[in-house]
Amino acid sequence: MRRIKTLSDISCKGKKVFVRVDFNVPIDSRGNVLDDSRIVAALPTIRYLVQEGARVILASHLGRPNGEIVAKYSLRNVAVILARHIGQPVLFLSDCVGEEVLSGISRMIDGSVALLENLRFHVEETANDEKFSQQLASLADVYVNDAFGSAHRAHASTEGITRFVKQSAAGLLMEKELEFLGTKIAETRHPFVVILGGAKVSDKIKVIDNLLEKADSMLIGGAMAYTFLAANGNTTGNSMVEVDKIQVAKDAIRKAKEIGTKLLLPVDHIVTSSLNAETNTIDSTSCAELNIPDGTIGVDIGPRTIELFEKEINGASTILWNGPMGIFERQQSSTGTFAIAKLVAESNAMSIIGGGDSAKAIKESGYADKVSFVSTGGGASLEFLGGDILPGVVALMKK
Ligand code: 3PG
Repeated sequence: MRRIKTLSDISCKGKKVFVRVDFNVPIDSRGNVLDDSRIVAALPTIRYLVQEGARVILASHLGRPNGEIVAKYSLRNVAVILARHIGQPVLFLSDCVGEEVLSGISRMIDGSVALLENLRFHVEETANDEKFSQQLASLADVYVNDAFGSAHRAHASTEGITRFVKQSAAGLLMEKELEFLGTKIAETRHPFVVILGGAKVSDKIKVIDNLLEKADSMLIGGAMAYTFLAANGNTTGNSMVEVDKIQVAKDAIRKAKEIGTKLLLPVDHIVTSSLNAETNTIDSTSCAELNIPDGTIGVDIGPRTIELFEKEINGASTILWNGPMGIFERQQSSTGTFAIAKLVAESNAMSIIGGGDSAKAIKESGYADKVSFVSTGGGASLEFLGGDILPGVVALMKK
């Protein structure tokens, strides 16, 4: 496999550079941006290109408008936030292809920045349409992919476009994501502790399978732990259990024993009898031992589990954490997740946060700047950590 070209391999001065970023940020019902982490994560590449004197043409999707023009999914608000971050104007173009876009780009000067409108306002983007890919490619001289969060999608702006541009390279964020989630985990320093949480075993089957072989210990919390506990024959009350994944959990437990990876499950739980599944609101909680009593629902790991996990985290040289330990959005069930965030941040290990909800949790815990790396990927991180080769990355390798 070829090495991927990076920004230092290409010259951008005076060139039109199409940069695929992932500005798929959380928004409210009116399209106001709720969290600008993904915009901030793209700044190093944007600043680098500006300093190099490139004409920076940014493109992204936002939400899933399915080829329709949906006002709340416009990237206009993102352009305003971005301009504030980079301290210079951002030319917002109200489409991503066509005459007006070409004319807007033709007026750009070296070191200026433009942001195209949501790529997914055209159904051809997700269809990876050849003509659309060609149209996108025709906007620029060089293609840079900095959208790790979208690299698991074979779409026109992440995959198709690379067939029609002369030069492609990974942006600085893409490079960092591949370094931390790829190289650093492949060549990991041991003991390597993997902490997995979140709601479903089904989202993490490949990650469990792939990382069990690399990890010294795997700590499992979150609702997915209840499926594992059911596989071990423990009672789980009314907790969320994926019955059709109990066998997957049994196989993982067996595999861990066979290869000598320590697989640790919660030994106590925070439970409630009043969880509103729609609003995730909880009235009162109590602590339950290993077996969760009838009529109660597990919503967080308990204090003895935190202690158990602490020992592993403190002895680690490398930590990868993906998925919260409970419903951390509610104060009554946030202790486990925030305790793990603190332990990971304060450990001496190289610590990698695998994106999605765990990225949100580490940010809310206030420890995001104390860990080595927080991935911007959600689905992309999971697929990559599960051992899949991402189409957006393969496209850069072929080029
Ligand atoms: C993400 O948020 O995971 C990426 O931006 C990809 O978005 P998608 O799942 O809508 O393709």
